[in-house]
Amino acid sequence: MEAGAISSSDGGCSDEQQEHDENHSQEVQKYEARKPKWWMKLSGRRGTRAQRQTIERMTQCGYCFSRQVLSDFSRVNNSAKHSSSAAEQLSSDSWRRVWWNRSLAVVDENDDAAQVTPIIDTVSNSRNVKHAQKIQSMYSNKSPLVPQKFERIVLEIGFGSGDNILANAMRDKSTLFVGSEIHQPGCGTVLQKMEAEMGLKMRAEGSDIEEKKIDTTTSISSENSGDAPNKATSYENVRILQGDGVKLLSHLPCKYLDAILITFPDPWPKEGHSHWRVVQPNVLVEMHRVLKCDGKVFVATDAECFNDWTRNIFTQESSKGDWEEVTPCPNRSTWLPIVSYYEQKGIDEGRHTMLQCWKKK
Ligand SMILES: C[S@@+](CC[C@H](N)C(=O)[O-])C[C@H]1O[C@@H](n2cnc3c(N)ncnc32)[C@H](O)[C@@H]1O
Repeated sequence: MEAGAISSSDGGCSDEQQEHDENHSQEVQKYEARKPKWWMKLSGRRGTRAQRQTIERMTQCGYCFSRQVLSDFSRVNNSAKHSSSAAEQLSSDSWRRVWWNRSLAVVDENDDAAQVTPIIDTVSNSRNVKHAQKIQSMYSNKSPLVPQKFERIVLEIGFGSGDNILANAMRDKSTLFVGSEIHQPGCGTVLQKMEAEMGLKMRAEGSDIEEKKIDTTTSISSENSGDAPNKATSYENVRILQGDGVKLLSHLPCKYLDAILITFPDPWPKEGHSHWRVVQPNVLVEMHRVLKCDGKVFVATDAECFNDWTRNIFTQESSKGDWEEVTPCPNRSTWLPIVSYYEQKGIDEGRHTMLQCWKKK
């Protein structure tokens, strides 16, 4: 990926802007994460046994996050909010930054882990044992991968089988690509590709979990290790979250992402179903909060209804001074280098692809 298409700066966002975002978020409609039962059934929630095993192995290696992480994160943060002033700090932005950097194995000179450690101890001591243990384990979460410095962090919401995230990760090693997908088979598919490409499964066979962790960590950190198969660095800039990308936004710290990609999302064409579309006014508020200054949202769709809906909502929010459209839209080869199964299906059925890019102001 060319840095120009998705790069953003971290300076210049004022506290007033943040306050504006917070006030704004109270006015807008809520995102409807719970989908209808018939949709859940159709979308096949469970992956195959092999996929589930891969998800398990890749979670142990640090490339995958389980849904449980998000629910623990929100449970601990919610209860912390209502307890003590020390606990309040646990849900603060600096904590989130430290937590995500550690969990994604990102080196960031701006986080100050030493400053926040005593807060965990205070909170853990002041609660009942079970809750204290939960907090300890939640806040001690750390990726087994060797932390690295990335120039950019990009989130793709609803990556399907993950071809785009993998293609982007291959072409731009200086960017960390975080993908979220609610469909377990989709997560299984992309992780199987990663595991095969990096030779992780081969390494894991015949070893216990501890050995796998050490072996994997060592293998991806030593580019010239000479071990066969030596493709271990291929996807070290990819992290997969099996869960709702919109919910994930609410857990991220402010000004954390450089870009958000939404490619061929479910269009929910019936007017009465529009509240299930990924792009909603309140989702834009969260996107605005988590993007760095000049951070961008890229949207690709072949559904007229979704394209118009997205443009209307962004235009509405732009009138409040939050967004501006980037025209012409940056070349798709810099963010959508592949033609996915869903795009091809649309082309075969006579639809055409529409692209939009919106920049945070
Ligand atoms: C039509 S598919 C497109 C997949 C892929 N982007 C592509 O171009 O092939 C839409 C995907 O978004 C996923 N999805 C929908 N809402 C989501 C959400 N809130 N968080 C994560 N994934 C979501 C669905 O499970 C589905 O796999």
